[in-house]
Amino acid sequence: MGLNDNIPKHIGIIMDGNGRWATKRGMIRSMGHRAGVERLRGIIKMSSKLGVKALSLYVFSTENWKRPKEEVGVLFNLIVEYFKKEIRELSDNGVVISVLGDMDSLPDLVRETLEEAIKITSQNTGLKLNLSINYGGRAEIANAFKQMANEIENNKLNINDVDEKTISQYLYTKGLPDVDLVIRTGGEQRLSNFLLYQVAYAEFIFTDTYWPDFSDEEYVEAIKEFQRRNRRYGGLK
Ligand code: FPP
Repeated sequence: MGLNDNIPKHIGIIMDGNGRWATKRGMIRSMGHRAGVERLRGIIKMSSKLGVKALSLYVFSTENWKRPKEEVGVLFNLIVEYFKKEIRELSDNGVVISVLGDMDSLPDLVRETLEEAIKITSQNTGLKLNLSINYGGRAEIANAFKQMANEIENNKLNINDVDEKTISQYLYTKGLPDVDLVIRTGGEQRLSNFLLYQVAYAEFIFTDTYWPDFSDEEYVEAIKEFQRRNRRYGGLK
């Protein structure tokens, strides 16, 4: 495949373009989301194969509630259906599921399905698959501050111990390495409130390809491009 050993430890993907993929083909938008789930399967397998440690996917943002109720329903149904069908294989492949986001306000069936998937895979040791569902980066940071303030008030945390590392321990991504590479499909070049704190030194790759068309080959090409970039973290090389 032409890759070297420098595989990004943590990749974040903004899977955009499902709706346009479907509309272009004269299909309804939900068909695009369905095709998007199909593509997800392949990308997860490929990530495990390449030795990526953590893959974080932007599935449903706090802003996505603004979409028509039917479309929100379709997305939630797809999540439930996906885990019903795939949880065994995911777990057999060692995948560890986690959810980044506020699960409390999800419909019961969705929340229970996710909780079950987290439980079943919790002892696994392979790819950490993090689904951002009902996720917003600023809300995540605000929530971290709230928790820290509470612990400071109750003398569980010393204010002098609050540093960058401490803050990261209060985020949904606690324990995961920083994001090395963000890929956004679908042509837009923005972060849309995705993992704001964690992407401080990430490389960004934007592609016009709609998510359902984002092939394994293009994924490998993106990682090759990552490997060509010169990461200095503000220093000199
Ligand atoms: C963006 O496309 C995509 C989403 C808002 C949803 C992403 C979700 C999936 C791929 C399904 C995930 C499901 C599971 C099982 C984890 P868009 O609708 O914004 O596309 P558009 O910009 O072309 O309208």
